[in-house]
Amino acid sequence: MTDTHLPLDADVTVIRTLPAEDPERRIPIHSLVITGSEPVLVDCGSSASGDEWWAQVEAVVDPPDVRWVFVSHDDVDHTGNLSQVLERCPDATVVSSWLIDQRQGVDGPIPRERSRWLNDGETFDAGERRLVALRPPVYDAPSTRGLYDVTSGVYWSVDCFGMVVPYAADEVSELDRDVWEDALGAFPQLIAPWIAEVDPLRWRAAIGRVAGLDPKVIASAHGPVIRRRDIERALDVLAEVPRLPIAAPPGQRELEAILASTNTS
Ligand SMILES: [Fe+2]
Ligand SMILES: [Fe+2]
Repeated sequence: MTDTHLPLDADVTVIRTLPAEDPERRIPIHSLVITGSEPVLVDCGSSASGDEWWAQVEAVVDPPDVRWVFVSHDDVDHTGNLSQVLERCPDATVVSSWLIDQRQGVDGPIPRERSRWLNDGETFDAGERRLVALRPPVYDAPSTRGLYDVTSGVYWSVDCFGMVVPYAADEVSELDRDVWEDALGAFPQLIAPWIAEVDPLRWRAAIGRVAGLDPKVIASAHGPVIRRRDIERALDVLAEVPRLPIAAPPGQRELEAILASTNTS
């Protein structure tokens, strides 16, 4: 995998920013560009990777041509370049929500006159494309809505289907099967520990909303691309998450080990 954009379809491209320079930062941060008659930016990446993010975006679309900016939720790894986007994409409408409007503040408020509020289950049209807001089962902010592009069959799952990447891969099919499934099952515990409290039947129903889309591709902000042949297995792994033993996240001992391994003085 290289740190550059990844086309999924003639009009859908993943913008990838990977923490390649720091081996201890192993959660990638991606966003999406959908081109066509009314180009859409889907999330805005992290400001820490601003130059790289913009270079990839500009390779796909000329910023003044962007008509829509879909903000999945108000976490900084999804809104990092939003203030620059507002400046450089003056004709873009920000697809946001009341809750994002209330909570978004790190990078400044989103102008309401440039906003369209879109809730879970609602749609908007970007030219010839119909886009559906659909909350993924795993999320780490209440404002989260994923985005399904009916034309391409690509579902932007936001933080769901992410993972701590064991090694570089464009698509999950490039990972060892056991490694992928373990990482996929472990990530929800890190970002959505409330899943341990969820009724398994209701949890399956939440996952069924994604299955009901019958997507061709699932693109996550924090993981390799999942093609159709792997989607059923990904959903099955997710369905088992409430039953998994809770693993402790890294703590002070691990921090000291990292510092010791990187201390060259
Ligand atoms: Fe998030
Ligand atoms: Fe995220």
